[in-house]
Amino acid sequence: MFNFKYQNPTKIIFGKGCIESIRKEIPPGSKVLITYGGGSIKKNGVFDEVKAALEGYEVLEFGGIEPNPTYETLMKCVELVRATKADYLLAVGGGSVIDGTKFIAAAVYYEGEPWEILEKFGAGIARAVPFGTVLTLPATGSEMNNGAVITRKSLKAKLPFASPFVFPKFSVLDPTKTYTLPPRQIGNGIVDTFVHIMEQYLTFPVNAKVQDRFAEGLLMTLIEEGPKALQTPEDYDVRSNLMWCATLGLNGLISVGVPQDWATHMVGHEITALYGLDHGQTLAVVFPPMLKVRKEEKREKLLQYAERVWGLKDGDEETRIDQAIEKTRELFESVHVKTRLCEYGINDDCIPLVVEQLEKHGMIKLGERRDVTPDKVRNILELCL
Ligand code: NZQ
Ligand code: ZN
Repeated sequence: MFNFKYQNPTKIIFGKGCIESIRKEIPPGSKVLITYGGGSIKKNGVFDEVKAALEGYEVLEFGGIEPNPTYETLMKCVELVRATKADYLLAVGGGSVIDGTKFIAAAVYYEGEPWEILEKFGAGIARAVPFGTVLTLPATGSEMNNGAVITRKSLKAKLPFASPFVFPKFSVLDPTKTYTLPPRQIGNGIVDTFVHIMEQYLTFPVNAKVQDRFAEGLLMTLIEEGPKALQTPEDYDVRSNLMWCATLGLNGLISVGVPQDWATHMVGHEITALYGLDHGQTLAVVFPPMLKVRKEEKREKLLQYAERVWGLKDGDEETRIDQAIEKTRELFESVHVKTRLCEYGINDDCIPLVVEQLEKHGMIKLGERRDVTPDKVRNILELCL
């Protein structure tokens, strides 16, 4: 196992009815700015519950943060925070609202052009406005990590950043607030969580037994519970397990001391930026071919995954690996996320464009061994069609 340091300052408040507890988490007298998306929280009652919990605080709001949040929209909120001197942010929504709020929190105090935050992967951030979150879509893990992904429409760029200053102070996770999710977002969330775990697990062995078993437990939970969320949408236990899975899948716990991949995510981000596919959809398309093309480099972990997660013990190595990759694709399809580019109306014209964008963003040596070069990405994309 590699050396590591581990710290996660985000407090999690989990369970039915826990929105009211946000008042205990935000310092009295704060001027609170609620950030939210396209309005789902106004339709399903979450906004009203949040407002009631904030009685006694001065409260402002900023809505309209879109899926794959854009720099263009977020900068309007940065201006609002600066003008109103709001001193606490509360993100209410899915990963896009939380990611957008991380950017806002850092950009408010940023000296210089805030897009640099993305260009320098968060390096220049020296402080941020404190913020909490109320999560309504389990998927990204953003509620308990310090990363975010921001799109700049004018550049067709979707780039990540991270900083120790943008961990949420607290996150409220009430599984009942996910009941109103459309099936498409439930499916996206399951795929996203699954691929997060795999980006940290399916690399090469370093004898990190705890992280491996932990990751396998999360994967098996998703396989067991994921499809049930679509069949019985108001099952509290199913939603609770999925929600906690998503948080633990990307809160830094399973990544300590192990190599990490993230090539699927980087290719997926370019596809979203160019064609507007949902984040989860891009992962469902790219991940199975990513494993296929990199079978040799990932052989040992693929065999471990096949046996421990899918119970595949019979047949030769090649067969078990192929079956495990096929089962992964079937899982994505079982939660109704399509796994071929053609099903989203995209043909092979996309290959040079995606590769060109990756090169432009310096993403020419991806993966745990830094061997996913533009040529390899071309091969992978050909299998995505
Ligand atoms: O905008 P509203 O009206 O709220 O509707 C949203 C949105 O249309 C809707 N929704 C959310 N909760 C709902 C709901 N509808 C009904 N009932 C509810 N309870 O769902 C739609 C999608 O929301 P979004 O926040 O975009 O989805 P998600 O949570 O999947 O976030 C995706 C974004 O997170 C980034 C992705 O790249 C993408 O931009 N990621 C962030 C990561 C991180 N910070 O660590 C890691 C991930 O890999 C990912 O890259
Ligand atoms: Zn993701």
